[in-house]
Amino acid sequence: MNNFIENYISKENDRQANNIELIASENYPSQRILSTLSTSPHNKYAEGYPSQKSIDEFTKIYPDYIHTGKIGRYYGGCENVDMIELYGRYMWQKVFNTSYHCNLQPHSGSQANMAAYAAFLKPGDTILAMSLRAGGHLTHSAPVSFVGNLYNVIPYGVDDNGILNYEEIQAKIIDYRPKLIVFGASAYPREIDFGYLNDLIQVTLENCAEEDGSNGQEEYNPIIMVDMAHIAGLVAAGYHSTPFGFADVITTTTHKTLRGPRGGLIFCKPEYAEKIDKAVFPYCQGGSLMNVIAAKAVCAEEALYPEYKDYIYQVKENCKAMADEFIKLGYNLVSGGTDNHLLLLDLTGTGITGAELQEACDNEGITLNKNTIPNDPLLASQASGVRIGTAAMTTKGYMEEDFRKVAHRIHEIIKKIQKLKEPPKYDINSIKVGQYPLDPNIYKDIEVWGNVTVYVSENVDTGEISLSWKRQPNTVDLFNTDDADTPEE
Ligand SMILES: Cc1ncc(COP(=O)(O)O)c(C=O)c1O
Repeated sequence: MNNFIENYISKENDRQANNIELIASENYPSQRILSTLSTSPHNKYAEGYPSQKSIDEFTKIYPDYIHTGKIGRYYGGCENVDMIELYGRYMWQKVFNTSYHCNLQPHSGSQANMAAYAAFLKPGDTILAMSLRAGGHLTHSAPVSFVGNLYNVIPYGVDDNGILNYEEIQAKIIDYRPKLIVFGASAYPREIDFGYLNDLIQVTLENCAEEDGSNGQEEYNPIIMVDMAHIAGLVAAGYHSTPFGFADVITTTTHKTLRGPRGGLIFCKPEYAEKIDKAVFPYCQGGSLMNVIAAKAVCAEEALYPEYKDYIYQVKENCKAMADEFIKLGYNLVSGGTDNHLLLLDLTGTGITGAELQEACDNEGITLNKNTIPNDPLLASQASGVRIGTAAMTTKGYMEEDFRKVAHRIHEIIKKIQKLKEPPKYDINSIKVGQYPLDPNIYKDIEVWGNVTVYVSENVDTGEISLSWKRQPNTVDLFNTDDADTPEE
């Protein structure tokens, strides 16, 4: 049998077991969640939403459940998965202590966003959202995403201190009257104060009403959307301000700080329940992944455990400890620090790019991702920063001291890359030929001159330079190499 896939799954198991995982959007779900993903609801087609019969059955067990949204499936045999989906909704409302309608069906965070837009917008309508380069997600504003194609996206960013640019947001609401405004980000290290945003929007809308009233225009009332994919776990645990009450529609993923299965969720004010349900199915998706919905329900149960609150507390403490350590080591962080589960290390002035650091860290068993910083002069493929998150390693039991050590390891890697990138200090005329063996611990530079590979080494203590070379096989000998040893490769 060809075990190609098993082989690489096994290698991936090892990678995940041994690497220091700092990707801010990843986590390690519980065994119960992983097991639930491979159960029989996987096989069940259940287009549509739970039936009235199932809702009646469910409310006998959980009388405080109040159903909102669409009713009825397009397939038979849905009585069990109906109960699972209803229980999931009920539990997620408990997690966020809300009566907002909850749709568990989006296959991913991107599809949750697509459906949320589709529920309220027509192609060509205007959205105000955080730009990708300032920290927003692709599906908020990027021209390469469906969002930039279907809608007229007006981006906002951060100020010179890396904090949400409230003045810009206010001015753009007044100038463009977006039909929908998105808050939330993929790479923003500070708390988003939804209470403050609520006040800001109210004041801005009053300004708009005054202006419109004097022009005899209809009252302007945008849809407020929050994509809390990154911070949902912090909101659930009560360690971040909540968008419930402020936003009309809230999207999230369940696999980041919530530590659940891969997938999306949408919450909305009950009056928008049917619009959202129709936008998810049949507009954006067909049959929902019932095994994932079951795992999302388990995730909600876990998010209600007191241990989960402790976990999120530690995620934040760890991130703060690591941020402080980087600052002590002399680095700049975007916004000067962190209030949540991630930080953005600004590499400007270090002479290395985010891409170089990501690759060097990969070679040292540390997994992180390059990330642009505000006003980044580099393209996203290079980037002047890296994003570092603490959610996954906190799940593995890392505490503040562990993260401080990781900051030092990354610092060492940065120094190593800098050293390798330094222009050679040697004067070619002073190089002594043929001193060998090279000490593997000293700086070694390798150059290829025509058909000869030249090895230059510098003793970091004495500054002494030595040179050796090896002729490529089957080439003409340019040097007389009789008295020079050839190094091992
Ligand atoms: C804020 C935000 N929204 C949406 C998404 C999209 O989630 P998915 O990758 O599940 O489509 C992400 C993914 O990282 C995200 O950071």
